[in-house]
Order: sequence, then C-alpha cells, then structure tokens
Amino acid sequence: MSVRAVITGTGRCLPSRVITNADLEKLVNTSDAWIQERSGIIERRWVEPGTGPSDLAVEAARQAVDMAGLAGEDIDFIIAATISPDYYFPGIGVLVQAKLGLSNIGALDVRNQCSGFIYSLSAADQYIRAGTYKRILVVAAEVQSTSLDFSDQGRDIAVLFGDGGGAVVVEARDAAEGRGILSTHLFCDGRFATELWMEHPSPKNFPTFQVEMITGRKTFPRMDGRKVFINAVERMPEAVLAALKHNGLEAKDISLVIPHQANDRISQMVMKKLQLSEDQIVRNIQRYGNTTAASIPIALDEVVREGRLKTGDLLALTAFGSGFTWASALIRW
Ligand code: UT7
Repeated sequence: MSVRAVITGTGRCLPSRVITNADLEKLVNTSDAWIQERSGIIERRWVEPGTGPSDLAVEAARQAVDMAGLAGEDIDFIIAATISPDYYFPGIGVLVQAKLGLSNIGALDVRNQCSGFIYSLSAADQYIRAGTYKRILVVAAEVQSTSLDFSDQGRDIAVLFGDGGGAVVVEARDAAEGRGILSTHLFCDGRFATELWMEHPSPKNFPTFQVEMITGRKTFPRMDGRKVFINAVERMPEAVLAALKHNGLEAKDISLVIPHQANDRISQMVMKKLQLSEDQIVRNIQRYGNTTAASIPIALDEVVREGRLKTGDLLALTAFGSGFTWASALIRW
C-alpha cells in the first residue's frame, strides 16, 4: 500500500497573559500606532516566569493527540521545532517526550527558525512515506518574551515577538484516500545568516559566556527588518508557486493559505502576489504577534477548530525567516 502523511490532530497553547501595545509602551520607546501600522499587531501573549516552550508544546500536543483519537503511547516519533529551547542543551524534544510520559521513542529537534514547523512537517512526511514511522507528533513552541531587548536597539523585534505553541499529529494513511501532504519544498540562503540572528552566547568565543556580552547587550536577537521584509514577500509566494507547479496545480486551486505570521503587511503582500481573496489567507498576528516556529500550527489549529477546512480542500503553508530559510507545504485536507 502506498502511504501519505495525513494531519489527524491539531492543538495550540497560548499563555493566558495578554500584553497589549499599550503595555509595551511602558517598557519600550514605541507606540500603539507605530506597531499597528508597521506590523498589524494589537496584542501578544507572554508566559509567566517558570514556563518553558516545552510546557506550551506539551499542552498543544495533548490536544492534538486527543483530536486524533489517539493515546500518548500510540505516538512513535517526535519532531520538535523551536529557536528558544528550554535549555542550551538538551533539546526540547526529549522534554516533550518525558512530560507526556511517552515510551523511549526518538525525538528530533529542528532548528530552522520561522520555517521550523514546515521543515519538521517535511521530515515527518519523509519518515511516513518511507514506512519508518506511522504516527508522528510534530510540535513547535517558543518563549521569546524573556529574551527581548527593550532598548531602542531592540525595539523592532521586541514589539513583534510573542510566546506560544502548536502541535499536529501526522499519521500514515492509504494514498488512495487522496488526502495528506502532497509535497514540501525547503530552501535556505545562509549568506543572510546575520540579518536575523542571536550572536551570543557562542562557543566560538573563549569562554562562551562573557560578562561583556551582557553589558554590551549582545545576547539579544538582532535583525535588519527591511532586508527580512523584502526577502519574505518574494520568497513566500515563490515557495507556494514551486509547490503548485510540482503538483500540476495553480493558485486558483488553493482553498486556504497559512503564511507564517511574521508581519501582517507581509501576509497581505503574499495574498496579493498569489491573487488570493481575504478569506483565503489566515491572519491572526493581530492577537498573538510573531510566534516564530509556532505561528503556523497555532493558526492551523484555529482554522481546524473553526471548521474553515473541509475534506478535499487544498491548504498551502509557507514560511520565511532567520537563516534565511523559507519553505512551503501543500496539503490535500
Ligand atoms: O519572523 C520572520 C522574521 N521577521 C520578520 O519577518 C520581520 C520583517 N520586518 C518587519 O516586519 C519590519 O521591517 C519591521 C516591523 C520590523 C519594521 O518596520 P519598517 O517599516 O521596516 O521600519 P524600519 O525598520 O525601516 O524603521 C522605521 C523607523 C526607524 O526610525 P528612523 O530611522 O526612520 O528614525 C526605526 O528606528 O521606525 C523606528 N522603529 C520604531 N519606532 C517605534 C523601529 N522599531 C520601532 C518601534 N517603535 N518598535
């Protein structure tokens, strides 16, 4: 039997603490008007101290496993994406395995930033097509609020990022059903690695951790926002078009696109470039900010629970971010 990877469960976990733009005005030299005009963001969620991304991932995972009608022991592999792991090492996947009380299955950590969820989904798809695993849990979670620079140097990023987690269960199904992941397309251009990055701490330095890194504000994420923006609006539609071409489909065949929620202006430009209507593109950055690897599975869970996806719909996912990395996935729902 030829198999396809089908998403059978989704889940999300957003911390209950809401941080509005007005709240940020008290911490950062910014304004509600600037944030809304430049990014579309109205509020985001921040964890309380003590909560790590693995906690958000685990809650999202429980919901996804439940929706799939499975129990934890049915999962035979974990793939976990984050740029903000609980620890420098080990990765987040093993923490998710332990907190869910799963048996000694493997857990793979993926470090592809905003594209991390699609990279993870791609890996899940290959394992399932190869017959290696049958039920894979894919999680993506970020706690970014604890490493923001509230000075003028970091205010571009500080107002964008939020915390959150999302999860899907991917299962092997008979390809004859016609459902599942049709293809994934992954790209990167490491020449732009320093355009959106967190340079320190780095093992390149001796010692890795130095007081001057903290006093010099070098342990915060930094970005050339304009360069990221210009590339994002080209690469995301390009990745979707590559996926459509590969499958002999056209943009008019798409039911719904979930772009990584980087900036609402980016999502709107993706919409225009693909000639989509407002109801064909998912935009929830207003409520959650940019949750990096978690943004797509969070949005996916929302649309699934709202009943916006029907069997047979063509769903496109696309992301762009640090690396630069970018990616797309085409899914027959
Ligand atoms: O998740 C994937 C990775 N991230 C992204 O995709 C983000 C991509 N980039 C962006 O979303 C946008 O570039 C930003 C929202 C970050 C910035 O918007 P922009 O329209 O590109 O603004 P800018 O960087 O060109 O800055 C315009 C001005 C600057 O002041 P001057 O030099 O014109 O006086 C900034 O210093 O806005 C200033 N600025 C701010 N002002 C108020 C930067 N951040 C802020 C802020 N509040 N938070």
